[in-house]
Amino acid sequence: MEKFVIHGPVKLTGEVEISGAKNAAVAIIPAAILAQGKCVVENVPNISDVGLLCRMLQDMGARVRFLTNTTVEIDTTYLTNPVVPYELARHMRASYYFLGALLGRCSEASVSMPGGCCFGVRPIDQHIKGFEAMGAKVSIDGGMINARCDTLFGAHIYFDVVSVGATINVMLAAVRAKGITILENAAKEPHIVDLANFLNSMGADIRGAGTDVIKIHGVDMLHGTTYSIVPDQIEAGTYMVAAAATGGDVLIRNVIPKHLESITEKLEKSGALVVEYDDAVRVTRKGPVEKINLKTMPHPGFPTDMQPQMTAMLTIANGASIVTEGVWDNRFRYVDELRRLGAQISVDGKVAVVQGVPKLTGAPVKATDLRAGAAMIIAGLIAEGKTEIEDIYHIERGYEDIVGKLNRLGADIRRVSIPDSPLVQAL
Ligand code: EPZ
Repeated sequence: MEKFVIHGPVKLTGEVEISGAKNAAVAIIPAAILAQGKCVVENVPNISDVGLLCRMLQDMGARVRFLTNTTVEIDTTYLTNPVVPYELARHMRASYYFLGALLGRCSEASVSMPGGCCFGVRPIDQHIKGFEAMGAKVSIDGGMINARCDTLFGAHIYFDVVSVGATINVMLAAVRAKGITILENAAKEPHIVDLANFLNSMGADIRGAGTDVIKIHGVDMLHGTTYSIVPDQIEAGTYMVAAAATGGDVLIRNVIPKHLESITEKLEKSGALVVEYDDAVRVTRKGPVEKINLKTMPHPGFPTDMQPQMTAMLTIANGASIVTEGVWDNRFRYVDELRRLGAQISVDGKVAVVQGVPKLTGAPVKATDLRAGAAMIIAGLIAEGKTEIEDIYHIERGYEDIVGKLNRLGADIRRVSIPDSPLVQAL
């Protein structure tokens, strides 16, 4: 087992380069299945979720080759086995994108119920509603989601909730369906647009991605392509908050400032200065962190995937901030860990009241999920003394080289191995 050990406090200064977007990569890699030919995907983040998806593809018979650290070539010509087993699917949510992609390619798919971060119940009814509307038969048996069809037909689908996953999955199934599919109340996140651009570069006909109505004209065939993934909005936001939380001065490069607007707005309200350039933002903070209120919402609202990091910063604000989670039922599990560092936070359902304290003090904590792990890192950078973070595999699912990037900004963070406790060894 490994853990991160952070000595704080520190003011982050310097420049950091943002990697390709995890949540775009985890949709685009399964989407390569739909091509007749090779796809070369560039600006792929070097994270464990990407490695796992590549293993799933190989398991199905695809050829996957890394041309560089961040460029992957995927050839699914000889794909034979439309099955994603439990051992692989249980580690991540995005494994379910193979359902839509395999339905589109092979008219059948068998994917184990997905894993991923635990925020309470994570239903997939909207994905199934979409597939069924297009003529697929879907059943859940022995923990496997099985979908099959003779022919997929375009359909008019109204999503009952705004769902990133359902929008992506149904879009994947629809690109090669017969006729026109219209998705209403679709999600509008930057990774939805990136996936649509990737599919269009393969010959798909998708219009309206980035709005809440997406129109897809099915095509008979998609060809291989070369495509570069957009920068990661959430990784960029995490470094923005880390810079502001530590009272630092950081230039965050390779970003799309437009994607960061809701984060920028909240950081400015909290006393930070954010300067936008064409493909970079500079974040500084000289005065105190001011209390703010925020509510997470689907894009273009404030992203739920930035809620824990922002809460970590607000633990040292002047006064009480109110943080409302508007997407997930249960995304405050990490608050207990922040309390170990001295944070004063009370949670009632989907609302947290964060009473700012003058300082945090280092302590052992756990990463309870990916973004909660990022929040622990930010808290560890602010806190006085040593913070040790366990269960860092969550963090490494989604942040490329976070230790190297932070250390180059002046942090003191190390990844160290921990021997199993005598209790575990005895088991
Ligand atoms: C994606 O999850 C992201 N994951 C999540 O990021 C992110 O938190 C979430 O979107 C919201 O932005 C990936 O892109 C891989 P949803 P997803 O379907 O697609 C309800 C991270 O940290 N819902 O948009 O699973 C659901 O319960 C991860 O990078 C249904 O009711 O989220 C939730 O309340 C964690 N029925 C809401 O919709 C459904 O069929 C939004 O979920 C599907 C969803």
